[in-house]
Amino acid sequence: MNKTLLSSLTAVMATALVTGCTTTDDSPSASAANNEPLDVVIRSDLPLRQLGDMINLSVGAALETRHLDNQQFRDTFVREFSQLTPENEMKFKYVQPQRGQFDFIASDKLVEFAEQNDMVVKGHALVWHIQNPEWLENTSWSKDELAAVLENHIKTVVGHYKGRVMYWDVVNEAFDDQGGFRNTLWYETLGDDYIEMAFRWAHEADPDAVLFYNDYSTEGMTAKSNAVYRHMKKLLDKGVPIHGVGTQLHLTVEHQISDVSIARNIERLSELGLDTHFTEIDVRIRDGNGDSALLDQANRYEMLAKLAAFYPEVDMITTWGVSDQYSWIPSWFTGYGRALMFDTDYQPKPAYAAVSNVLLDAATGNFGYEPATDLSKVGRFVQPFNAKPLSSAKFNQQEVVYYPFAYNQLGGKQQQLPASTTTEGKWAVGYHNNKLIGRVLRKDNKTVVDHSQAWENDNVEVFIRVGGGFWQFRAVVGQDFAPLGFPGKAKGEWNRDGTQFDFVIEFDGVQDLVGETIGFNIALSDNDKNTESGGRHAQLYPLTGTNIGWQGEEFGELFMNGQNAVVASSPVSAPAPFKMSRLNDMPSGAADSAWDQGYHYSFAFNQLNQADMSPPSQSDVSGSWQVGYHQNWLYGVVNRNDDKTVTNMEQSYQNDNVEVFVQRGDNTMTQFRTVVGQDFESVHYAGGYFAEWSADGSQLFFGIELDTPVNSGEAIRWNIALADNDDGQGRSAQLYPVPGSNIAYLGEELTKLVAE
Ligand code: XIL
Repeated sequence: MNKTLLSSLTAVMATALVTGCTTTDDSPSASAANNEPLDVVIRSDLPLRQLGDMINLSVGAALETRHLDNQQFRDTFVREFSQLTPENEMKFKYVQPQRGQFDFIASDKLVEFAEQNDMVVKGHALVWHIQNPEWLENTSWSKDELAAVLENHIKTVVGHYKGRVMYWDVVNEAFDDQGGFRNTLWYETLGDDYIEMAFRWAHEADPDAVLFYNDYSTEGMTAKSNAVYRHMKKLLDKGVPIHGVGTQLHLTVEHQISDVSIARNIERLSELGLDTHFTEIDVRIRDGNGDSALLDQANRYEMLAKLAAFYPEVDMITTWGVSDQYSWIPSWFTGYGRALMFDTDYQPKPAYAAVSNVLLDAATGNFGYEPATDLSKVGRFVQPFNAKPLSSAKFNQQEVVYYPFAYNQLGGKQQQLPASTTTEGKWAVGYHNNKLIGRVLRKDNKTVVDHSQAWENDNVEVFIRVGGGFWQFRAVVGQDFAPLGFPGKAKGEWNRDGTQFDFVIEFDGVQDLVGETIGFNIALSDNDKNTESGGRHAQLYPLTGTNIGWQGEEFGELFMNGQNAVVASSPVSAPAPFKMSRLNDMPSGAADSAWDQGYHYSFAFNQLNQADMSPPSQSDVSGSWQVGYHQNWLYGVVNRNDDKTVTNMEQSYQNDNVEVFVQRGDNTMTQFRTVVGQDFESVHYAGGYFAEWSADGSQLFFGIELDTPVNSGEAIRWNIALADNDDGQGRSAQLYPVPGSNIAYLGEELTKLVAE
């Protein structure tokens, strides 16, 4: 049979079903680029496990004992897979249902089955916050007691399978989506030490076992994968026995997923000596989506197979189930299904063909794929704002992240915040099912609501772009959103004194927002004049811009950061970058009048508080910054107000300081630090640099030399931070112009500085 490239799925499915696992003698061509039609004819008659064996890749699936009673399931599983993960039956509540009473009946069956069929087993999962027995959940443990419970559990389970279960997911999902430690029963009592303890105990129980940390939304370069990377590095430096990181990959078809971003993550983990496993792959499809979704799905599977075939560090890939028959998806993600490589009749889907063909090409030396190395292709410079899932439809203070209103887009070049005595505010958004649920907290010394133009009043506006549509919702203080042609429901409610605004925006025809990135902006307007001729003096947004949000421009991104959240490879919006002004001469200092013309920006986001990034009160610390360029020098001014200056800490970053992060072109990122009152610390940098402070520490003037002159329009990757220490213990705030997880020092989460 000839290899045929088919773009019509009907023809494809017919061929796949008719030919089944038919091989072809035709020389395989890589269906490499994503824009080429997928080759959905299965070109090999070898099952996946054999193709995998040829390139040292275990291809596995998760299952439960009951699935093995189904002959079709069993046959398919044994034929195609060489690795087994217990989908549930090795989790805490199954193996230790009562304290001290272990039950290995089901898990033993799976391990025996694997041994009989020459499969390798990955035990899943020793420590997790879900599927724990009641006795464990409902006791208030002391630190020592809980540590003893954990030690006994790990040592008993790993010991029971010593020499038989080769791989373990030791700790599962210990980080939240912002990159903080997830608040679990383990973390609450043991702090983050439980991670280290778990690995050490597992290693003691079976020194030959290969030990993994496992999580979701960690495949690419995300705030969460950054956190995992940093923590693994820290533990490895301490000698903790960790051998790899598993990334789950519960994906949706709609989602852009970037191989470049995944590749970079695999590589950085590899530099630590860690392998990467793709541990729980499935790509779910919305019910009602046509068959073309199966091709999109195959594309995602193909990309993962290529990465696995390319990187020797990826030596195990596991799908979360065998066929669509028993997949966990329909019961966990209402309205979704069809996530696996085999359909409910155990027929191979295009996803199967895609994986099979990639493995065949790799096994026969016909593999033309190589991931690009340039992450800038991923294209995100501004960290997205994350919306958190709420556990109920009600807004819950504890469950969301607050972001400040940071820039006054009415200020022209003076975008920095007004004095907080005039107005200030913060906002948070969560989601539940298809609803965005938000809150704005606002302080204002004077509320004006009787201007005849609604927008000139004190109000909140929410801007949303989803699909092809764009909507601007406005609620004047004290009033609901004004009606507009929105296909859904939008409702806003103010408290009595206008300090709190709660809103719900519900989309019709959207099943679930998990993993979606939408264009988003939010603004707080302030009018302080009581006359009809007087309008607003401030409209505060979380981003800089030219106040054209109402035209559907200059959006930020709101990222529904739940399961399977990925960094979009193409941003839905390109928020206005920070600008640096062109200086006619080298400025003589911070007082040079050249600075009057330049852009002023806030230090607005406190990245040291991941639950509430709004800055501390202005009486504690606040600041603004400006950058200009002349020839091949960047010059900057920082204005800083601080009630207490601390500069005697041993570790310089714990002092009051300003840090500047610069990366131009392909150069490596350089982090410059100046403690208040002192010059920049010396760093490894080819050009010149200097920092000069005013005597009272309220003003900094700095310069950084670049290799060649700056061109107008040029974008430099950039960040700047103002750190504040008040108690001589450590910093209480580190303020950046963008939200993030405080990892600019790793060259991550930089933003853009564009030359005028
Ligand atoms: C899921 C199982 O598939 C379901 O059957 C069960 O009800 C809940 O757990 N991340 C993990 C897996 O690490 O253990 C989860 O498995 C899916 C998400």
